[in-house]
Amino acid sequence: MVAMATIEHETAAVPNCHGGLENLDEEYSYWADDVIDGQIPGDLSGTFLRNGPGRQRIGGQTYGHWFDGDGMLCAFSFVDGRVHFKNRYVQTTKYVEETEAQEIRYRGFGTQLPGGARKNALRQPGNPANTNAVLHGGKLLALWEGGRPWELDPATLDTVGECNYDGQLTRSNVFSPHPKIHRRSGDMFNFGAGMSGIGRRGPKAVMNVFRIGRGGKLFKKGKVPLPTFPFAHDFAISDRYAIFFVNSIVSTAMPDVILGRTSISDQMIFDNDVPMRVIVVDLDTMEEVRTFESGPGAIIHFGNAFEEGNEIVVDGMFASDFDANIGLSDVFNSTRFKAGTYLRYRLNIETGTMSSEQLSETESEFPTFNPRLGGERNAFTYTACNVDNGADSFFNGFQKVSDSDADLVVLPPGYYGSEPIFAPAVGAEAEDRGYVLEVVYNAFEHVSELHVHRGENVGDRVAAVRLPHHIPHQFHGHWHNKVILNEAKGG
Ligand SMILES: [Fe+2]
Repeated sequence: MVAMATIEHETAAVPNCHGGLENLDEEYSYWADDVIDGQIPGDLSGTFLRNGPGRQRIGGQTYGHWFDGDGMLCAFSFVDGRVHFKNRYVQTTKYVEETEAQEIRYRGFGTQLPGGARKNALRQPGNPANTNAVLHGGKLLALWEGGRPWELDPATLDTVGECNYDGQLTRSNVFSPHPKIHRRSGDMFNFGAGMSGIGRRGPKAVMNVFRIGRGGKLFKKGKVPLPTFPFAHDFAISDRYAIFFVNSIVSTAMPDVILGRTSISDQMIFDNDVPMRVIVVDLDTMEEVRTFESGPGAIIHFGNAFEEGNEIVVDGMFASDFDANIGLSDVFNSTRFKAGTYLRYRLNIETGTMSSEQLSETESEFPTFNPRLGGERNAFTYTACNVDNGADSFFNGFQKVSDSDADLVVLPPGYYGSEPIFAPAVGAEAEDRGYVLEVVYNAFEHVSELHVHRGENVGDRVAAVRLPHHIPHQFHGHWHNKVILNEAKGG
């Protein structure tokens, strides 16, 4: 079934998606009352948090890679049929210093400092805290995979500082942007690749695994040995296991990165001779319990995982190359942003066999689901989609995927979408009783809109709210059932 969004527009000259990458330098806090279609449902109550690079240019210089812009948190607070908007930059060391200097002072994942190898040698990428936001254990964190998280005050979005969980995260610990909250315990698990010393063949790779209690204390750490240093951005957890896919994307010239001759991004390739390895880790012992191996591949983002008998079922977005990074490396010139193929893996923990099936035909990324079912069997997954609608190949819609069907909602040309997030309705019991939220860039008017779709029938857009400015294209977000922002609580 295909449902078209209802916005009508002249499409003679369709603007591209690049305007949606421009900076939003201003910080706002206001009630977004320009509801251009429908109305905000009264049973939608809570906070929709999003993070992404809000500043991609500074002092006439540009970050070429989408991953390198400075993190800007947005909070949409839903209160009594209205929505309040607030955005704040994460005041990282990088952001503060570069704002003061009005120039790029830190090397990025894909952006080199001007001045050649000498300027970049022995310099780590700066932490822009730009990839995801999560609220757990009283801490609102802005996350980035190359470093530690930055903590913000959830009531104000003011930056508290870099978070090390009372010294539990060391300087060399990285903390992925995709932590997972464990349903049964309420604890949060996360990971970061690291090294455990020097062996006869050089540095020894490990996956550090972290467990944070619902009170916000990091109380358990594990180290899982790895055969190689992984490019691992996300993982999945079921009730009892963490599942890591160590993929076929590899570094080819780390010495050149260290010597400043190339960026991290430019020397990463997809190697067809490297199989994809799956490592299953027991969440209680933090020890490996089984590994699996498949042909070459990469899973950048995961949906849910759950257990069925001897099998662990894991949903992920599969890629057979690293072409996605080409579009991301030069965002202001790219017109093709490649996404993945939605696969469901079955890992038999007894026999060691693994299989997969494709769940959707549509090229897509950023899988999400009702967070109430994390680690348990879910019937529905939502993904951002790349649909050929005559405009740039960016996210042009989203879909709701079930075991047997996919409902696709396509935006008109010139409108560019983002990761869809499911927000349960107040008191809802059915899995899809709630709303799918999507921030959409309206390139005709260079503003963003918040679209609210009915969960049971995503083709039914119940509300669209027009903001008086744009929100630069973001990566990830998170729904929280409570209104957390002081300014929104006042009504
Ligand atoms: Fe991600």
